Amino acid sequence: MKERVVGRAAVLRGTIDVPSDKSIGHRALLANAIATGSAEVRLRAPGADLASTIGCLTALGIEINRSGATVAIRGGRFASPKRALDCGNSGTTMRLLAGVMAGQGAAGVLDGDASLRTRPMDRVAQPLRAMGARVATTNGHAPIEIGGGPLRAASVDLPVASAQLLGAIAFAALGAEGETTVRLPAAARDHSERLLAWMGVPIHREGLVTSIAGPARPAARSVDVPGDPSAAAAWLVAGALHPDADLLLPYVCLNPTRLAVVDALREMGAAIEVTAVGSDGPEPTGEIRVRSGDRLGPIRIGGADVAALIDELPLLGVAMASADGVSELRDAGELRVKESDRIAAMVTGLEAIGARVEELPDGWRVGPGAPREAEIATRGDHRIAIAFAVAALAGVSGGVRIDDAEAVSVSYPGFWADLESVAAVPA
Ligand code: S3P
Repeated sequence: MKERVVGRAAVLRGTIDVPSDKSIGHRALLANAIATGSAEVRLRAPGADLASTIGCLTALGIEINRSGATVAIRGGRFASPKRALDCGNSGTTMRLLAGVMAGQGAAGVLDGDASLRTRPMDRVAQPLRAMGARVATTNGHAPIEIGGGPLRAASVDLPVASAQLLGAIAFAALGAEGETTVRLPAAARDHSERLLAWMGVPIHREGLVTSIAGPARPAARSVDVPGDPSAAAAWLVAGALHPDADLLLPYVCLNPTRLAVVDALREMGAAIEVTAVGSDGPEPTGEIRVRSGDRLGPIRIGGADVAALIDELPLLGVAMASADGVSELRDAGELRVKESDRIAAMVTGLEAIGARVEELPDGWRVGPGAPREAEIATRGDHRIAIAFAVAALAGVSGGVRIDDAEAVSVSYPGFWADLESVAAVPA
């Protein structure tokens, strides 16, 4: 593991092209892989998770060629893979592909790295079984074996507000005769619905219920995947906390289901401007600018807001640790089953950098303390590495040593280069 030391930046200034959105990227690759026709998916600086989806599709016999930022795909039928499909660290690859394979009647085994093998998979296996799919997990975890065979439409009530699960069922429903409906307990990102509708699939969302009329096959369409709001959030938090910052993110997905982090930071007092510019395929796009402002105030996050902020909560934990008062996160037990137990990882890290923090079963309570130097255990989790790099950059800590700098490459391989480009010599 290569470590990396991060200190406080004297100023934060510049323009950053954040990597293409991971959620949209997975879906654009998968939907075009089973579509009629050929298309190109443009992915800027994709991380290892998107490479996992490309690798799995190649192993499933799909003609897919990557050249620079362009991934050319010809839609087709899945062949039986010779070995287990390697989803790496990517829960989205595993859960969405389980649904796609079930919908295509394809058989195969989905596996992943040590972290992915600990994550819950019954939540996707059970609804797929309700549709008639043969899905066997390993005590609720990966490896998962998908058996192939016909599906039937079903009415599915999801126990968690997970866009991965909704996406998996939506992809599976493409292979079932009749109308499948999926109900979420709270709103989650809606990229599957937008993309499939844009590719001609009869899919509709009303409130928390999505319905898909099968069988259906998407029509291939090229997608230029805009910047990832979850990657952008690193710079929004850094800029909001640093006393001398002005950062511009010129090309970001502005899907409203992904911008709750902007609302949360604004509620804390951050100066963030969002300007809609146009759209790319099914998604609105534009630029986001953050400038230093007054010291942030505390915030309480809980209930239905959690699902909309799920990937940004580590960064918001850092913002909370510098706010003027005590903040609280509740109802976020899902964080314990992400790439790491993010509640434990954040509480340990926030304590290490000198914040006053209390671990709760479903979140944390945190307020500022005396910033100090710290060693951060990323637990191989990209979002933990990025959150504490931002804490150091903005001076919320006294400088940090991140134990596994490479962890960022799962979602944001250019993170360290972007950090160097916007940060002047450490003060
Ligand atoms: C994702 C949904 C979220 C998120 C993950 C990507 C997606 O997971 O944490 O990084 O692309 O659907 P859940 O929907 O399971 O919470």
